Amino acid sequence: MPSPSAPTTSVASAAAHPVAIRDVAREFALAGGSLPVLRDVDLDIEPGEIVVLLGTSGSGKSTLLRQVCGLDVPSSGHVLIDGTPVRGVDPRCAVAFQEPRLLAWRSLSQNVALGLPRGTDKQDGAARVAELLELVGLAEFGGHRPKQVSGGMAQRAALARALARSPGVLLLDEPFGALDALTRLRMQDLLLDIHAAEPSTVVLVTHDVDEALYLADRIVLLAASPSGPGNTIGSVRTVPGQRPRDRAFDPQIARLRIELLEGLGVPSHHEDDHGPTTTTRNDVHRSTRHRNDDDRTDRPVGPRSSS
Ligand SMILES: Nc1ncnc2c1ncn2[C@@H]1O[C@H](COP(=O)(O)OP(=O)(O)OP(=O)(O)O)[C@@H](O)[C@H]1O
Ligand SMILES: [Mg+2]
Repeated sequence: MPSPSAPTTSVASAAAHPVAIRDVAREFALAGGSLPVLRDVDLDIEPGEIVVLLGTSGSGKSTLLRQVCGLDVPSSGHVLIDGTPVRGVDPRCAVAFQEPRLLAWRSLSQNVALGLPRGTDKQDGAARVAELLELVGLAEFGGHRPKQVSGGMAQRAALARALARSPGVLLLDEPFGALDALTRLRMQDLLLDIHAAEPSTVVLVTHDVDEALYLADRIVLLAASPSGPGNTIGSVRTVPGQRPRDRAFDPQIARLRIELLEGLGVPSHHEDDHGPTTTTRNDVHRSTRHRNDDDRTDRPVGPRSSS
């Protein structure tokens, strides 16, 4: 794994931005009606924070991510990055997806260079690409084509491309979802290394509760809205402890894990000193709402350190 290093080129100068999601709703027009997906979504994300979006398939996680970077437009409400509204695809954001989406006929270096801001000086750009390939552990593979490297290496190149313009907001939609379990764990550590070396505000979508608990400052669970059709933020949970977190058993995190799984409709079959857990979905909803309120008052000021 690469060691985190401070950015050294003139291209790497952007700061992490705060993100404010204000009363966002999104419904899609369908033949003969409409599909309400999101409603009343309100969230403030601090600069440099890692926020993970969790929710069942089809709950609107990708849709919400797309509103943040301007790839899609809310039906109502708006998103502010660093206090200014997102209008159209926002250059302050970079996005990486489950598939690396690299150009097959270009080398990894050339693919990473595609992420540089327009008009970047040639020499600065080459230095930035070299620096990023080093950061993601691909320094020796810049000349390889995507087909000549493994899925994990291609995904690392895609991350480097997303970082090329030093985005203030990095949006990751199931970035490790297509990788084998072991590579996935390594990529999680790589993401934390990257975040330490080049802090940006990160919003990451995943289905993996353990990944969320390992990476996040806060976990946002999308759930059915109590006030109408569509989903909204069901709970916002602050993950206890500093990163890098212990992957072994931690009782506080284990409790949160059970609650998140139950919030996703997965029974935990957990037994504690008081017998089997019998939490119903409504109980979870009430208890997470309560803790969400606590979170808002207890939150530390500023993001946690990643190192
Ligand atoms: N452009 C679109 N037009 C119509 N419906 C859409 C569009 N984009 C998304 N949807 C619908 O919105 C809902 C939420 O989709 P979205 O992709 O945001 O879910 P998700 O939580 O990311 O799911 P997954 O975990 O499976 O990726 C789905 O019912 C989907 O069919
Ligand atoms: Mg999705």
